[in-house]
Amino acid sequence: MPASEQRVAIVTGGARGIGAATALRLAADGHAVAVVDLDRGAAAATARQITAAGGRALAVGADVADEAQVAAAVARVEEELGAPTILVNNAGVLRDNLLFKMSSLDWDTVMGVHLRGAFLMAREVQRHMVAAGFGRIVNLSSSSALGNRGQANYAAAKSGLQGFTKTLALELGKFGVTVNAVAPGFIATDMTAATAARTGVAFEEFKARAAASVPVRRVGAPEDVADAIAYFTGPRAGFVSGQVLYVAGGPLG
Ligand code: NAI
Repeated sequence: MPASEQRVAIVTGGARGIGAATALRLAADGHAVAVVDLDRGAAAATARQITAAGGRALAVGADVADEAQVAAAVARVEEELGAPTILVNNAGVLRDNLLFKMSSLDWDTVMGVHLRGAFLMAREVQRHMVAAGFGRIVNLSSSSALGNRGQANYAAAKSGLQGFTKTLALELGKFGVTVNAVAPGFIATDMTAATAARTGVAFEEFKARAAASVPVRRVGAPEDVADAIAYFTGPRAGFVSGQVLYVAGGPLG
């Protein structure tokens, strides 16, 4: 990659799963990558993988829903890697339950990480993008944005992220900043493994059942999503903004 296209990227929730695959992919694309996660130890493992392969990386422990921690994390990234101009809002949690059993804490936690977290991170990083006249923001939505039983909180948050994406695309376009969303279907990660465990189904069986309803007859891997994110963050995607790309092995949306 030409030096002019090397950037500093922040991947939230980059300690594992889709975020870790994205951090590794963006590093392979030549970017310096800050892995921001609640789990600092696991974030450091992702960062070590990047540096072992000859890349530049930094692990930062932070809660994306906490305003002061977000400000401190972005300041540290700027200081140690440089001004960030790529942001992947990937950190996420599940607190599934049917509406009548869902606590207000379950609701607030999911809204806090997905919506407030993406808002706080984007607001903090956009000034570096505006100053650079270049920026790429990718928000992780989900096929659950279309509605999913037991996920009123998560579906509302992931649907909300689509409106957030389109609005930031309108506001930031004139500064060279594109904003897109990737909406994965079933991806094999700790998150889906935890859902299998919670519902008492072996993960292999859970994946096989999910795969049966996917047109390409398999579940997704974190790398499937990382590839789509890498496209949106690249210099050649400058005329694509405000879009939601379903990465689900078939048509959705
Ligand atoms: P995961 O559970 O494997 O990893 C999520 C990471 O986010 C963890 O490392 C966790 O520590 C971190 N995190 C959670 N709360 C945080 C906070 N407040 N601040 C900072 N970091 C925090 O999840 P997975 O499966 O890799 O999902 C990544 C994203 O993709 C999430 O936004 C998820 O909702 C979304 N997604 C996942 C799908 C799947 O099938 N796995 C499908 C559609 C969307």
